[in-house]
This record gives sequence, structure tokens and C-alpha cells, in this order.
Amino acid sequence: PIMKEVSGLKHLEHKLKEILNIQEVIIVSGDSDQNELVKKEMGRACASRMKKSFTSNNIIAITGGSTLAAVAEMMTPDIEGRKLMFFPARGGLGEYVENQANTIVAKMAEKTMGQYKLLHVPDQVSEDAYASLVEEPAIKDALEMLKRATMVVHGIGDAMNMVKRRKHDQETTQKIIDGQAVGEAFGYYFDADGKIVHKVRTIGLQLEYLQNVPCIIAVAGGASKARAIQAVMKQEQGRKTILITDEGAARALIQDY
Ligand code: F6P
Repeated sequence: PIMKEVSGLKHLEHKLKEILNIQEVIIVSGDSDQNELVKKEMGRACASRMKKSFTSNNIIAITGGSTLAAVAEMMTPDIEGRKLMFFPARGGLGEYVENQANTIVAKMAEKTMGQYKLLHVPDQVSEDAYASLVEEPAIKDALEMLKRATMVVHGIGDAMNMVKRRKHDQETTQKIIDGQAVGEAFGYYFDADGKIVHKVRTIGLQLEYLQNVPCIIAVAGGASKARAIQAVMKQEQGRKTILITDEGAARALIQDY
């Protein structure tokens, strides 16, 4: 029975890869909406897939969220002794401290005995503050570093769930609702066609930077995230993305085909 289940997931992985038109899909069994342990398994699968793509010198940009926090927990030192530098992909995105990219990169560095840098940017900066922040030498260095990222590992969220979690002001919330956003990643909200509806103003990785990143890993699961995953995978970087997900999201996604 175990073999059967494994081959069933392999079939599902293949199908989902075709449907989403992306590079690779890894599915863990279960649904993380129903069972917290499934998120940990996605974390394990992601940590091990990351290792496969490390090079001798790595700049690894990471986003926040509870799924990425689960990835950090599962990381282990690299026996090949490759250099690992963890970096937050974007500044303040309105997350609780345990789910912030800064916290997660510190944890990843600790677990792998690697290094990390923090991005100290407050949430929801004004346009003026943003304009002067990007001129700060430390921030400029950080952005240069992000442009040279060798790997990006990011979460994906359901748009309305992220609106609630981030407590956006009324105007922003309305914009996201009116734009019919379904998915969110990197602080960008996307509609079902993958069009950008709103972008949170913070320092860090811009969607365009992804063009130069050789390895992109998205990690997100739970049936409730199916539409969000689909929207985010429609972005240009989708074609070279490795998606780590769970059966719950995968089955919900395939249902529509
Ligand atoms: O806020 C950071 C972030 O990575 C978002 O871009 C994403 O939508 C969300 O976290 C995912 O969070 P979780 O893994 O907790 O669902």
C-alpha cells in the first residue's frame, strides 16, 4: 500500500507540473489546512530540495510566513561545507516576529551554521521615507546583494487571508478587493490571471530581479491556497519555479482541469 501511495503522488506531481507549466513539483501527502504536521513535512521536503541546488557560494533570499518558518526548523548543516548566506527578500511586510523574514534567516543560519544579514526596514513606509531609505548605503548594499541571489525561496498566501493578517488600511484593502486578488507572494497581490493588483511598499527584491535568479523555490500548501498558487505560478518566473506543495493543494488545483 505504501508503494501505491508514493506512485500516486508521483503521478500527481507530473500532472500538476504540466498544468501549471513550471519546472518541477514536489508533493507531500496530506493537507496542511487540516493537519499542522503536513506543513512540517513540506518544510522538510523544501530543506532537502534546497540542498540539491546549492552551489559553492550561495546567496539565498527568503520571504516570511509560517511555511518558511517550518522550512527553517528542518534545515541542517551542509556536509559539503558550501558557503550559505541567508538574506531577507523584502523588508517589513506586516508579519508577527516569528514569521518575519529577518527571524527566519537568522534561524536558517543557526541551523546550517551559515551566515545571514538582516534588512531593517519598518512596515508601511511613506513614499518620502522610502525614497530616502533606498539611498542609504547599507540598504543599497543589501539591494545589490539581492540582485546577485543564487536562490530565492518564497511562500505564497491567499490574498484575502494576507489582507487580514497584515491589517492593511481601508484604501489598500479596497484596492485589493476591487482588483479581485487571489494570491500573494513577496508583498505583491495578484489576480487569477497573474496580473499585479497591488504591491506593498517596502525595500527589497522586486519581481524583475527574479529573471536573474538561477533557482526559485516556492513552498505553499493547503487546499485553501490552490487559487493563490495558480495565480503566482502564472508569473514569468513560474516556468523556472520548483513548487513544494501538499496533496490538499494539488488535488484542489487539478480538480479544475
Ligand atoms: O508575508 C510573507 C509571506 O511569505 C507572504 O508573501 C505569503 O503570502 C505568506 O507569507 C505565506 O505565509 P504562510 O506560509 O504562513 O501561509
